[in-house]
Order: sequence, then structure tokens, then C-alpha cells
Amino acid sequence: MQNKRNATIAAVVSAVVFIVCGWLLLRGGTSLETFPLNTLKPQGDKAQIIFDLVLWVFGIAALVFLLVEVAIIWMIYRFRRDPREKGAAAPEGEPEPVQLHGHPSLEIAWTIVPALVLAVLAVFNVRGILLMDDVSDDALEVTVVGQQWWWEYRYDTNDDGVVDIITANQLVMPAGRDVKLSIQSNDVIHSFWIPALNGKMDAVPGRTHPLVLQAWEPGIYEGQCTEFCGLSHGVMRMQVKALAAKDYEEWVGLMTSTPDAPSTPEAVAGQELFVQQCASCHQVNGMEPGDTSYEYTKLPNPEYGKSVDSPLSSKNAPNLTHLMMRDTFAGSLLDLYEKPATAVVENPSKPNVNNLKRWIRNPEDVKPMDPANGQGMPTLDLTEEQIDQLVAYLLTLR
Ligand code: CUA
Repeated sequence: MQNKRNATIAAVVSAVVFIVCGWLLLRGGTSLETFPLNTLKPQGDKAQIIFDLVLWVFGIAALVFLLVEVAIIWMIYRFRRDPREKGAAAPEGEPEPVQLHGHPSLEIAWTIVPALVLAVLAVFNVRGILLMDDVSDDALEVTVVGQQWWWEYRYDTNDDGVVDIITANQLVMPAGRDVKLSIQSNDVIHSFWIPALNGKMDAVPGRTHPLVLQAWEPGIYEGQCTEFCGLSHGVMRMQVKALAAKDYEEWVGLMTSTPDAPSTPEAVAGQELFVQQCASCHQVNGMEPGDTSYEYTKLPNPEYGKSVDSPLSSKNAPNLTHLMMRDTFAGSLLDLYEKPATAVVENPSKPNVNNLKRWIRNPEDVKPMDPANGQGMPTLDLTEEQIDQLVAYLLTLR
């Protein structure tokens, strides 16, 4: 009786778990707004391939599960102990049940059938893997570099072998077009993951891993580093901002042009401060650390961005030339504007000055870092006046 009850409980529990999983899968875990890291709401070709595979695997698993459950319940019923029986022996006058020692045909069957099931799944799997690698000829190529704790993106928009756009955290790309990423790392192993657009890909020092993204529609797609990479791994976020084709061209135009020079006295003072305090880590194209005669008209160093070991200053810190063209900063942890990102070229809302000040005032208050070991941004102990000047300058970088 005890065994029968246990078996029944097990069957009921697994059926409930199964039904809940199926319900979650079909419901797709609700919307991307509520759950932005949702693999069950594919928003592009590659994510759709993964989702289709999930449905096939889950469908076949569901069939196997149902057959096994039915067999268990039938066997519990069919081979239950006779209710009149108290001891182990058969009741008086009734024959002993047939004593079996193995059942070759059954054993062969339950070895071959699972192998066949796995073979069928392997066909779908291999097909999926091959489709994931497909990339169209007109694909945009972007190099992605994992850093502690943010993502760098390098574009060579005119295909001349020289990087002409370097930005951070928010990967801007055209919707409807394949984007071929070359994923690298500058320090430890990270993992790049935009669930709505594709699966995960590790960023490993010394290696380049390919990944293709494609988004059907313009939109914002959230991501998160998924390989433990140190103190701020848990808040190492990223975003894809997919723009309509003509908006993307406009973005490229703005990103490859020169920001207006600061005009207010406050912003000019901020620029001087930037050169002294920030330029040894953060690059603004054309600016060298300590170079107060800095001119915006200088082109970025053509060598910059060709390899992770670029000699220029912006190796461990984001390039800030067009900071205000992004919607987020600090590893996508803080909003740069008062309203969150939307799929438009420039965020129409007001800059979030408080977030910028908070970050400059004490970065380690925002996220855990270890600047003494070259991991993350140090606290510069600036006065409030200096912080205001610096922010006034940063706001000109668009
Ligand atoms: Cu980068 Cu975890």
C-alpha cells in the first residue's frame, strides 16, 4: 500500500510540474516589458530558430512523459497487491504469479526507442546549429569586446579596415539586417547574451567568437553578462537598440561626425578637467591625455580598435566621444536620460544630470568595483563645482 501511495503521489506531482512548465512555455512568460530577459519571446530570426527547437524538444519530451505516466499508472493498477492479501504468499488455492527473470524483447525495446528519439532530436539540433551560422552577404560587422564590467562595440562602417565608431553598452544596429558579431574579451571570460535575439556566446581572452544577431523590428532588447566575471558581474548589462534602416544611417552619420566644441565657460572648464582627470583612461577621439590644445578636428588614431591590445588610452574604459548618443551608461546600469531608451536615434528626453553626478561623485557607490587593481572607475574626490563643470562638458559629447 505504501509503495502504491508513493507512486501515485510521484505521478501526480510530476504531472503538475509538467503542466505548469507547458503552460509557461505556451504563455511565453508574458511580455518583454515585464520580463526583458525572455528567451520565449523571440524577436529575430536566430532567436526563432532556438525557440522552434525548444518547441520540438518539449513536444517530444511531452509525448514520452505522457506514455511513461500512463504506463506507470496502468502498472500500479494492474500489478497491485491483492486487497485480501496480508502476507507475502499468494492466497490459499490461487496459483503463484509467473516468475520472470528478465524480458529480452522489452529490454531491447526500451534501449532502442530512446536512442531513436535522441536521433530524431539530433536532426533538428544539427539543422538548428547550421541555420544559426547562416549570415547574409550584406551583414553589418561589429566587434564586441567584453570588459570589466561593460561592453565595447567597434564598427568599421565604410569597410576600410579602420574602426570609425567606438561605443559602449548599447549596441546600435539596423533592424531587419543580419549583424555579424566578433566577440572578444579584454580581461576575463564574459558572456554576451541578448535573449530576444540569440543565445549566449562567451567572450574569451585571446579568442574571437562569432555570433549573428537579427531583429525583425526596431526596438530595445536587453541583455546581461552570463559568465561570472568578478565584482560587478551581476550588473554587467547590455542593450541592443535596433533602428529602422534610415535611422541607423542617421546614427552612423552623427557618430562619425565631430561633436560641437564646448561653448559655455562651465563646459570649457569641464573639458580642461576631463583632460587632466579622465583622459588617461577615457578616450574622446582626437584627445591625448594631458593635451590641452586638443582639437576636435583630429581624426581618431587609425590603429585604434584594430586589436584588443590597442596602445591608446581607452583600453579599459569606454570611449566617450559621443557619450550622449547613448541612452545608458555605467554598464547600462544607469539611464543617461530621464526617459528610458526607445528605438529612436537620439533620446528626446532631458539628460539625467543626477545620474551622471552620482556616478562621478562616487562610482563605487553605484556598483562594486576594484579600481586599485584596474577594475572599474576610481573615485576622484572632486568638488561639487568640479562635478558640475565635468557634467556640463560631458553633455556636449553628442
Ligand atoms: Cu562580464 Cu559577467
